[in-house]
Amino acid sequence: MQKKVKKIKLPGTDIEVSPLGLGVWQFAGGHGFNKYIWSKEIPEETRNDIVKAALDGGINWFDTAEAYGGGRSERNLASALKANEVKDEEVYIADKWMPMMRFAGNLKKTIQKRLEALDGYTIDLHQIHQPYSLSTTRAQMNAMADLVEEGKIRSVGVSNFSKKKMIKAYDALKDRGLSLVSNQVHYSLLTRTIEKNGVLDTAKELGIRIISWSPLEQGTLTGKYHKDPSLLKNLTFIRRRIMPNIKKKTKKSMALMEAIEEIAKAHEVTPSQVALNWLINFHGDTVLAIPGASKVHHVESNVGAMYFELSKDEMDRIDELSRPLNKMK
Ligand SMILES: NC(=O)c1ccc[n+]([C@@H]2O[C@H](COP(=O)([O-])OP(=O)(O)OC[C@H]3O[C@@H](n4cnc5c(N)ncnc54)[C@H](OP(=O)(O)O)[C@@H]3O)[C@@H](O)[C@H]2O)c1
Repeated sequence: MQKKVKKIKLPGTDIEVSPLGLGVWQFAGGHGFNKYIWSKEIPEETRNDIVKAALDGGINWFDTAEAYGGGRSERNLASALKANEVKDEEVYIADKWMPMMRFAGNLKKTIQKRLEALDGYTIDLHQIHQPYSLSTTRAQMNAMADLVEEGKIRSVGVSNFSKKKMIKAYDALKDRGLSLVSNQVHYSLLTRTIEKNGVLDTAKELGIRIISWSPLEQGTLTGKYHKDPSLLKNLTFIRRRIMPNIKKKTKKSMALMEAIEEIAKAHEVTPSQVALNWLINFHGDTVLAIPGASKVHHVESNVGAMYFELSKDEMDRIDELSRPLNKMK
């Protein structure tokens, strides 16, 4: 039975998504470069159950990318949706094109592969994964607009775009009669850069949604490493020491985590639910988040973030404790 959650409209579309989506980078784990981040492949049955738990918990959209295993994440997502007998019109899919060392023309050349990997599921939002194409932002947006007109994708977003590039993308799409739906960026209680570099304020002003990636800092904000630092040794070197540097972030966020634990207890919820709830509510409806999961219980728990309210005092207390931590990288 699907629970009722509020829905957020994506600008310029009739797409209405839950405040949380499910990020499925993890569905490419154990292969290629991805194994340096997500060391193990998630078994098929678990992937199917993760998707089921997301849907049962009220999530109606999924975030994947070409770069997540060169189609592996897209294929595994489609297969998990099929295993759960989910029809195309029952869910939304956000995909991403990897622009590195590529011109905008490649978007059109590779779209068929993306559609094949998604095996009949529509690309409701197609995003430029990084701001590093060999073509201009305008050329990329024109290629995306062509794909919308050809009916290959339904709407357009960007990812990791600066304020300046985000405005360029917005203007170029506007000239084609389309809205820039979203900018997917690293945003969490431990990474609040977009509040300082103009991305968040501009997104609010132009009505662009922010999609927060790594909203739990890859598990840091669940409090599990604060409670039991011996778990750090199970992480790959990249996650532990480089990106997001869970070891350093755990050490520096003790006071914040204690407050989150206290607030979680008062609401009879978990710390990760509090961290996600803050993220999707502190800025009204601007921020959506796509926590990933490698176990069914992760998503079963995380969806709970959509079902309670933090008081203004609680929001502000978390805000104050989190702000000073954002000097760190
Ligand atoms: N656009 C971009 O450049 C970009 C970059 C990064 C990610 N993304 C997208 O954003 C999504 C989310 O980011 P992310 O996966 O990097 O970080 P995240 O959502 O902050 O963390 C997900 C990881 O945290 C742990 N976790 C989650 N919920 C938990 C819970 N309730 N209890 C205990 N542990 C829990 C799990 O780690 P373990 O697996 O270690 O247990 C899980 O794999 C990705 O799947 C991807 O779709 C986009």
